[in-house]
Amino acid sequence: MPRNFDVALVVGSLRKGSFTRKVARAVAAYPGPLTYHHVEIGNLPLYNEDRETEGGVPPEWIEFRKSIRNTAGVLFATPEYNRSIPGALKHALDVGSRPYGQSAWDGKPAAVISVSPGAIGAFGANHHLRQALVFLNMPAMPQPEAYIGGANKLFDDSGTIKDPKVDDFLRKFAEAFATWVEHHQ
Ligand code: FNR
Repeated sequence: MPRNFDVALVVGSLRKGSFTRKVARAVAAYPGPLTYHHVEIGNLPLYNEDRETEGGVPPEWIEFRKSIRNTAGVLFATPEYNRSIPGALKHALDVGSRPYGQSAWDGKPAAVISVSPGAIGAFGANHHLRQALVFLNMPAMPQPEAYIGGANKLFDDSGTIKDPKVDDFLRKFAEAFATWVEHHQ
């Protein structure tokens, strides 16, 4: 009998109609042992290390760190901004990584999906994110890699993935991530 795990879904786009969020939600909806909790990153006040020591830690930082600490793993879904990850996502990584020595990310198994309307599926963002995950000591699932291109044509009007090959790939990705999370507990 597989165990169940709560995992965080961190989406790098703040846009209402985000393709990245739609892909992330599709992955989270496949049946399996993982329960996904979307963790908001758009409300975090800008990081300033002085606030850690001068009694002004914003409640949003505290809540965010708690949400990450309480999970068994993290699925990152990111668009690509200028061949890297959006500032909002990098900022969330930074907020979660401090105070020094108390990173909420430490040791959490992770996976990365990058999404773009373009042809190369936000490869640059995917690998910039992986670079930060190495430093954060988050084992990032190496395979399958997920570079989802043509994202603007992926969904029908009801939000369903039109291409059965993409649907099948994302389902297998979700299964692989569940195995990865279980392996790292
Ligand atoms: C982009 N976009 C983009 N796309 C890409 O494939 N590579 C890139 O380097 C960039 N750079 C970039 C910079 C900025 C500031 C913006 C706003 C956009 C286009 C991007 O892929 C597109 O807007 C997606 O729709 C963003 O993802 P969401 O919001 O739909 O999830």
